[in-house]
Amino acid sequence: MTLLSICYENGKLKILNVLLLPHKSIYEEINSVEDAWKAIKEMKVRGAPMIAIVGCLSVAVELRKENFDDIEGFQEFMNKNLRYLITARPTAVNMSKSAKDLIKLVDNLIEEKHSLEKLKSRVLETIEQMLPDDITDNKQLSDYGAKHILSNSESNKITILTHCNTGSLATAGYGTALGVVRALHETSNLEEAYCTETRPYNQGARLTAYEFVHDKIPSTLICDSMVGLLMDTKKVSAVVVGADRVARNGDTANKIGTYQIAVLAKHHGIPFYVAAPVTCHDTDIHEGNSIVIEERPHHELIKIAGVKIAPEGMKCWNPAFDITPHDLITGGIITEHGVFTPEKLHEIHQRKKE
Ligand code: MRU
Repeated sequence: MTLLSICYENGKLKILNVLLLPHKSIYEEINSVEDAWKAIKEMKVRGAPMIAIVGCLSVAVELRKENFDDIEGFQEFMNKNLRYLITARPTAVNMSKSAKDLIKLVDNLIEEKHSLEKLKSRVLETIEQMLPDDITDNKQLSDYGAKHILSNSESNKITILTHCNTGSLATAGYGTALGVVRALHETSNLEEAYCTETRPYNQGARLTAYEFVHDKIPSTLICDSMVGLLMDTKKVSAVVVGADRVARNGDTANKIGTYQIAVLAKHHGIPFYVAAPVTCHDTDIHEGNSIVIEERPHHELIKIAGVKIAPEGMKCWNPAFDITPHDLITGGIITEHGVFTPEKLHEIHQRKKE
């Protein structure tokens, strides 16, 4: 049985509340844009692709119920809700990219003088297509990534390290970096997958480990501070992580801790890959230092499973992401169009424009 983190059928949307994993598997209904905004903010759903899919599907849920008096009312509804959804979490680019595309679609259809009915059906079609498209892209990307890693390794048994959660629980299915691990496992080319605990919010220990156990993938959990020793003493073939936003020059925002893993990988001569479908690429920004880094509430850092681990009165700093400079992405950026060095990334952006 595959893991299902989202169910959508005929305007009914349910999400798996990943905050309750691995102990409880509970699906919650999303009946409005407000429900989606809260679920994203509270991280009941998380991961860059999933944030955009749930956000946009919540618009579809409301659209299917709503009757509009005129085209202006429809356009206002779209603009207002899409712009609102972007505010839930600022670092991942996927929601703002989808919002921009949908707003543009509506503007174009209005310019072409389509009826209100046509507008609504085209928007619903586009949003509902995000689910299957994401799975197709992830599978394609994972296949490219697995083959690239294998072709650059002396062995046909790969030991891989990943960080955070980038699997079925962060996407519509299969996953990005975790998809690459899955693809290696499916062809019997995986020796071992290591996943970090991913402090402070433990997406690795709670979610990636859950996916590995669920899929019977040979795997071992380490805590974030063990990465150096792991690289020094075990034969790690490659590191693969996901992305929340990839700038034009390849600088990548991803879960806090990614940057230090990339530095260690460079020190140990281990190829470092970023698995990022084009939905995670931000062609509007040139480099990583203009990416806004989200800061999360202190309780996510000073409590583990509800238990305080720091003394009262202690200050804390809780950025959710960091930026890995492109020169540390030595393996390449894995996309659904192939694997690119950061320097060659502009080739897919160019191809998309043509
Ligand atoms: O704060 P999160 O859990 O949403 O962070 C998730 C990540 O950093 C993932 O690596 C990224 O979104 C890619 S998910 C395919």
